[in-house]
Amino acid sequence: MYIFKSRSNNNLKNINNYYFANNSSLSGTVVAPGDKSISQRALIISLICVGTTIIEDILDSEDVYHTLKAIQLLGARVKIYNNYLKVNGVGVGNFISPKKPIYMGNSGTGTRLLLGLVAGSNALVTFFGDESLTDRPMERVLTPLEEMGAKIICSKNKKLPITIIGARKKGFVLPINYKLVIPSAQIKSAILLAALSARGTSFITEFKKTRNYTENMLKKRGVSLKQKKINKKKTIISLDGTPFIKSKDVKIPGDPSSAAFLAVAALITKNSKIHIENVLNDKFRLSVFKVLEKMGAKIKIKKLSSDICKILVESSKLKGINIKSNLSAALIDEYPILSIAAACAEGETRMEGLGELRFKESDRLNAIVVGLNKCGVTVKSHKDNIIINGMKEISGGCYIEPENDHRIAMSFNILNLVTKYPIKVKDNKSVVTSFPNFFDSFRSIGVNLLKYDHKKKD
Ligand code: S3P
Repeated sequence: MYIFKSRSNNNLKNINNYYFANNSSLSGTVVAPGDKSISQRALIISLICVGTTIIEDILDSEDVYHTLKAIQLLGARVKIYNNYLKVNGVGVGNFISPKKPIYMGNSGTGTRLLLGLVAGSNALVTFFGDESLTDRPMERVLTPLEEMGAKIICSKNKKLPITIIGARKKGFVLPINYKLVIPSAQIKSAILLAALSARGTSFITEFKKTRNYTENMLKKRGVSLKQKKINKKKTIISLDGTPFIKSKDVKIPGDPSSAAFLAVAALITKNSKIHIENVLNDKFRLSVFKVLEKMGAKIKIKKLSSDICKILVESSKLKGINIKSNLSAALIDEYPILSIAAACAEGETRMEGLGELRFKESDRLNAIVVGLNKCGVTVKSHKDNIIINGMKEISGGCYIEPENDHRIAMSFNILNLVTKYPIKVKDNKSVVTSFPNFFDSFRSIGVNLLKYDHKKKD
């Protein structure tokens, strides 16, 4: 499902029948698709602004589509033009209670942030999602939101479907003083969005930096939000409740996480050289490129403005390194594709502190270990760490079941560029979550797509 009618998912009709050929070299320029985190926040925040927000270059992916539908059901009026949206918000905390449950598809970010927003409102909303989202932990957001006065109705396991009754339905939103023990931008954002409706100041103590787009966007719209750095690790965020947020237009930059898939593909293939355009210039999210550089990757990042950079990537001889747990929040979405780079590197790569990977669209820690082992790569996991032994030749020739996880599907598609025998990734369609034109983008920079020979014995 797409926001803009003109866009379609990959010009290939039956995407599950195709794979990346192992003789491809990548060249040319490719534009990174819009950032998923910023696209979702642009929609969610435009719902609570007074006035019109114009959103340009929004990521036209399924997660974003579901968030758009959700804000419409909560009262936003949205007009869709050729390549931009006009959203008329309803202000802080005054939403329509939709008659039917809201379907959030695969979107953890959309769901958790909207739970926060509804918690601070006068609305009653039920959210549900696909199989993967239904299995994801929600207690982490529900606990602080209940403390702020929201009522929750759900099963004992605290997973979707969840009905949430906003604190303002029968009372007030209480300010909160919350220690963010799990380093999660989604939990932090849910609390901040609920705290907008509180009478007074809420505090969140962050012990590890996570992406801060909710904070930045709220500040730019006049919300009184301060970030006080206590030491290298600890930051206290304070936010004063406010009934009024002014609208501000947004242009969505490209997603560094999606750019990382393009980059690793160029690094591991022979005679490749690509330019990735329009990438969000955010040191925190660009950490993956610094890690790849440490692995020996030839990468140049050219800052084009305070918001945007361009990344040049060339085929490189990679070597294994230790990736310490202090980087885990910055690399949280990049471990699957970093594992592919590690599988193609010389020597051992050790990735530490990956516990949170178990709670993503699939258990990614397990998916990486099982998937790479199936492909013939020696991988071990010990507690929350993964150790990958790079291989000169990777056999492939197996099935990978991404279980509705876009980043696992994309990672193993990219590994096909170097395996001796094709890997059959079941359900390539899951790429629509974050990188809808994944196959077209790779084709545009020289990746050959081949059709599986289903007659051949596996
Ligand atoms: C996101 C935060 C991260 C990340 C997800 C997007 C966001 O999740 O994995 O893809 O937009 O806030 P957590 O904050 O839960 O780790």
